[in-house]
Amino acid sequence: AIDIRKLRSETGLVTYDPGYGNTGSVKSEITFIDGENGILRYRGYPIEQLCERSDFIETSYLLIYGDLPTREQLDSFRESITYHTLLREDMKPFFDAFPRDAHPMAILSAGTSAMSTFYQNQQDPTEPWDVEVSTYRLMAKLPTVAAFAYKRSIGQPYIYPRNDLKFAANFLHMMFAVPAEPYEVDPDLARALTELLILHAEHEQNCSTSTVRLVGSSQANMFASVSAGINALWGPLHGGANQRVVEMLKGIRDADGDTSDFIQRAKDPDDPFRLMGFGHRVYKNYDPRARIIKDTADRVIRKLAGSDPLFEIAQELEETALNDDYFVERRLYPNVDFYSGLIYRAMGLPIDMYPVLFALGRLPGWIAQWREMNADPDNRIGRPRQIYTGHPEREYRGIEERT
Ligand code: ACO
Repeated sequence: AIDIRKLRSETGLVTYDPGYGNTGSVKSEITFIDGENGILRYRGYPIEQLCERSDFIETSYLLIYGDLPTREQLDSFRESITYHTLLREDMKPFFDAFPRDAHPMAILSAGTSAMSTFYQNQQDPTEPWDVEVSTYRLMAKLPTVAAFAYKRSIGQPYIYPRNDLKFAANFLHMMFAVPAEPYEVDPDLARALTELLILHAEHEQNCSTSTVRLVGSSQANMFASVSAGINALWGPLHGGANQRVVEMLKGIRDADGDTSDFIQRAKDPDDPFRLMGFGHRVYKNYDPRARIIKDTADRVIRKLAGSDPLFEIAQELEETALNDDYFVERRLYPNVDFYSGLIYRAMGLPIDMYPVLFALGRLPGWIAQWREMNADPDNRIGRPRQIYTGHPEREYRGIEERT
């Protein structure tokens, strides 16, 4: 790799790289992606193995601390997280203040910032204990904020966390239990959600993670950095894509299931429409996460609904696109978002909660990257350069002199 810092100071050179497609801004030990061959590993472990054998808290530990935990380390990490799952009671009116139809991603990012106001003396990025306790609090409380945002939107009472349940099961409980009735978490659903969370947990320098790093590089605290990451994830070209995929599939269903018009539009250079859930900056092969998620979708839909016409349409769309020159030449394959929304749909989650689920999954990745950056002696404030294309110097003229 070229040492661009040295080159710049010696030559004044600035590289022009829109979207940072070719700029390595960090050295990282966390995630390995081979986009050509569709390989994804967390700390060296293939995603397929973690998905099959690990759970979300163990995978989070691996991402954050670098190795799989011993039994003792895992128990202690789990305990530290469950200890913090409750929100301060004073935060409840915060949720009531939002309009009922507020997008839960807005509430999630605002809630993450708001939470930090309760722990202002424990957020110093240079204090190891502050970094530890911020990690536990974010991991513990983000699902509670997400579930409260959902309950607010449907007008039901908030359901408090259950610390005897594991991460995914507790989240399902807070989402779907109602005070008057018993609620048993379906272990198959909890497993499917665990798989989804693991598959979303980390993906190196994507838009939201780079945002977390950029904000954190100014020594902003972990809550502020993660809150910014949530906003970056919200966009339809990133974590909002799962929502857009389902909307697109509904559009196709309403057009009598005819996929050809949508394929045609996606190929038309004059039409901004894109096949949502297709294509990736790094994967030029089938996204390994999408492969697993497709199987999970099949399992969950079969169990909960028997079938879903949108799943049929998605598979047909995939089949058509994978045999179409336009998509083949550009190496556009289904990405992680293509089938995930269909699982959330089968679970009964409303569409605007889909990116929230993505955020919950991505949280340990954001934390791991923030901590890695913070511990890196090479870390400097993020400050990209630009190529100025505006006016040369101009003389100010009073308003009456302007034409
Ligand atoms: N449908 C149709 N054409 C596409 C699509 C698509 N989904 N994705 C890319 N293309 C085309 C582009 O029009 C472009 O064609 P051209 O060379 O003729 O101009 C070519 O493929 C390359 O596309 P870029 O936009 O340059 O690729 P980039 O790496 O910048 O974008 C992205 C990647 C944003 C994911 C893009 O593929 C896209 O918009 N996909 C749909 C949205 C989506 O699914 N986002 C989720 C991404 S995964 C994640 O965030 C977890």
